[in-house]
Amino acid sequence: MAKLGVGVVGVGTMGRQHAYNLRHLIPEAQLIAVADTDIQRAKLVAAELEIAHYHNSVEAMAERKDVQAIVVVTPAKFHGAAMKVCAHAGKDIFCEKPFTLTVEEADEVLDLTQKAGVRVQVGHVRRYDPPNVRAKRRIEAGEIGDPVIFKSLARDPAPPPVSYMASGVNGMFFQDSTVHEFDLGRWLIDIDTALLNMKFSRGTLGAVENYMQSGYGYDIRTEIVGSKGTIITGYLQQTAEVVLTAAGARTDVVDHFLVRFADGYLHQMLDFVQTILADRAPKVDAFDGRQAVAVAAAAERSYREGCAVTVQNRTRTSRAA
Ligand SMILES: NC(=O)c1ccc[n+]([C@@H]2O[C@H](COP(=O)([O-])OP(=O)(O)OC[C@H]3O[C@@H](n4cnc5c(N)ncnc54)[C@H](O)[C@@H]3O)[C@@H](O)[C@H]2O)c1
Repeated sequence: MAKLGVGVVGVGTMGRQHAYNLRHLIPEAQLIAVADTDIQRAKLVAAELEIAHYHNSVEAMAERKDVQAIVVVTPAKFHGAAMKVCAHAGKDIFCEKPFTLTVEEADEVLDLTQKAGVRVQVGHVRRYDPPNVRAKRRIEAGEIGDPVIFKSLARDPAPPPVSYMASGVNGMFFQDSTVHEFDLGRWLIDIDTALLNMKFSRGTLGAVENYMQSGYGYDIRTEIVGSKGTIITGYLQQTAEVVLTAAGARTDVVDHFLVRFADGYLHQMLDFVQTILADRAPKVDAFDGRQAVAVAAAAERSYREGCAVTVQNRTRTSRAA
């Protein structure tokens, strides 16, 4: 079987999971090396996954001849720079969301990767979450008629520490978290312009709730109301267990994104590997990543200025990067 040589750059919470999936669950991939500016972390993850190579930079990873594709999972501020290094080295790219932190950098990277002829897939995992995949198929088949309302809700159990937002290396609220909902809306409703509360270019109204302190668990739900029916995706209870005592009824609650989207993370990475091996264009590409960043930027401006903001839109020039 032809295998794709892959390297993972940034092996923190998310990168370690991607590296694990590539190493153990995707037979078409060969995890060659991991890299992290924290070299001890890179060494530890390499040992854990029983691979021989680890590095301290994306540059070192990009020099490897046996790596054809690089998975970028650094904090958001470094996504753009890392993708540029990969593009210059001719490596295909999987980049975690948000694609970049600003629309300007997103445009720059989109142009540069297209020019370099490398493929880019962006980690908008909701598109690979099985209930959302089925919802998309049903909408396309006309099962609920014309979508008229898109309603999405994302509640995290606890916010990241203040230092996470203040460090300047991660996205702020809209870029880091709500960007998932923005992309899901674009994908399910097939839109390119949004306002927040959103109004999609095809007329659908949208409302997105994103809350970081639910306290009770990781609660992600979406509703698409159509002219002929409604689809609701998402769930709160993780297992089928219900405990009944004199004190009442108790169930568990999904407690982490790595649990809730375990299938999505695996399916998206499998799709990335198969896409590159088959020389196809990624389904969630740099343009999609750029558009989600643009919606997040509009949301940020709308929040600061207290008025409706039109998304800085761009027209897709080609599907292949
Ligand atoms: N799709 C999802 O559901 C999801 C979930 C969590 C995180 N993410 C995204 O994944 C990315 C990483 O998030 P995380 O939670 O794993 O962060 P993290 O802080 O846990 O890990 C980041 C790692 O990158 C390393 N690093 C920092 N700068 C680097 C650089 N320039 N080059 C190489 N390594 C570098 C750090 O040392 C750290 O080990 C972010 O873009 C985040 O938005 C996506």
